[in-house]
Amino acid sequence: MVNRGEFGSRLGFILAAAGSAVGLGNIWGFPTQAASNGGAAFLLVYLVLAFALAYPILMAELILGRHAHGNSVVALTRIAERPVTKAIGALTGLAGILVASSILSFYSIVSGWMLGFTASYPLAAMGFDAHAAWLTDFSLSRNVILMTLFSAMTIGIVMGGVQGGIERWSRRLMPTLIVTLIVLAAYVLSLEGASEGLRVYLVPDFSKILSADLILRALGSAFFSLSLGVGTMLIYGSYISDEEHLPSIGVQVALIDVGIAVLAGFLILPAMYVALARGVEIFDATGALLSEDTLIFTVLPELFATLGTAGLVLATAFFFLMSVAALTSSISMLEVPVAFLTERFQWTRSRAAIIAGVFIGFLSTAIAMNFDSLFGFVIAASTRYGQPMLGLMLCIYTGWIWRRDSVLAELRKNDPDVASGVFWKIWPWYLRVVCPVVIGFILWRSLL
Ligand code: PHE
Repeated sequence: MVNRGEFGSRLGFILAAAGSAVGLGNIWGFPTQAASNGGAAFLLVYLVLAFALAYPILMAELILGRHAHGNSVVALTRIAERPVTKAIGALTGLAGILVASSILSFYSIVSGWMLGFTASYPLAAMGFDAHAAWLTDFSLSRNVILMTLFSAMTIGIVMGGVQGGIERWSRRLMPTLIVTLIVLAAYVLSLEGASEGLRVYLVPDFSKILSADLILRALGSAFFSLSLGVGTMLIYGSYISDEEHLPSIGVQVALIDVGIAVLAGFLILPAMYVALARGVEIFDATGALLSEDTLIFTVLPELFATLGTAGLVLATAFFFLMSVAALTSSISMLEVPVAFLTERFQWTRSRAAIIAGVFIGFLSTAIAMNFDSLFGFVIAASTRYGQPMLGLMLCIYTGWIWRRDSVLAELRKNDPDVASGVFWKIWPWYLRVVCPVVIGFILWRSLL
């Protein structure tokens, strides 16, 4: 048995898990979706789904991981008793590793763009316009080189191990991220036009709240944002000590994740309307708000350009924030294959991190070379279908296959009275019935 790492402190774990959860999904995905889907109505649905559906699955991953003190393949095999369920469990674990790697393959391309935009502003200010333009203009060479740089950073941190790499860097990067986000939001809120953005964000358009499409999007958003399904949280859970009280740790992680998404809304939506007040176009031909890549890579840079020196500082801080958020997420994705390779084949951590990281880098290069056909396809396959399907399997395994007395024994390790508490009264039932039915319904709808 290899020597497994363990998080050194509760705060270290919470920051690492929140670091995994808080990523491009929160700061970019959530606010832009809220902007186009009824503002506060989307926010409300997102909050309900995050706590009613995503939190129970987050708990399933954390509890399973800590029970096994091993990777997802080990965990899902161990709780099953019959050869068939053991085999399906192992396949599910392997599928999770595959999906985590696919997510990382497109995520590192986008994260590379964030690095490029961060550096482009100071470079342009120093007169290196051609270099700055290369960093922000779409090209194969830029996509591959910046992706490689970002992957190298991810690999470097994961090589440092659980405490020396993941925990240490999460402790540094997460506070930086939170402070940068608050300062940016406060500044943008003080500019003309921001109040209109606040109104769009906070006054719910209830005509949209019952739309099936909105609920689907909010669920997908919550799932991606909490890093569910692919075994990331399971692996992080496997590094928590038996003394920790998992249900309350899980609540804190979910609260930070949701809190940062909501906070990012206070930056992005006002920023869009500040841009509008300064003459930047924020609506497309059909009158809908611009969103996703156009918002981040066109609207915001145009806004920053109207703000002079303040814009330069703001832009650099904003893309730095995105890069930091992306990095604490990408290390958690790479940890999924790395944990498997070190435990299954007794590879050293460095070897596993380099080989898995380079392999995923090749996948990213293949996507970059066939951008139009592969980029959107890999995103949809891994996040829209892969994550919910794996989430469904996790519900089935934790809710139906894992014996209840064994689940209870795991929770009793640090809470002898857990059986009489609220968590145990609601969570198992939720996981057995509510989560699978809702995820099944959503998958069925999205496959139609
Ligand atoms: N939660 C991350 C984000 O919001 C993405 C992620 C998905 C991370 C799956 C790990 C695993 O950007």
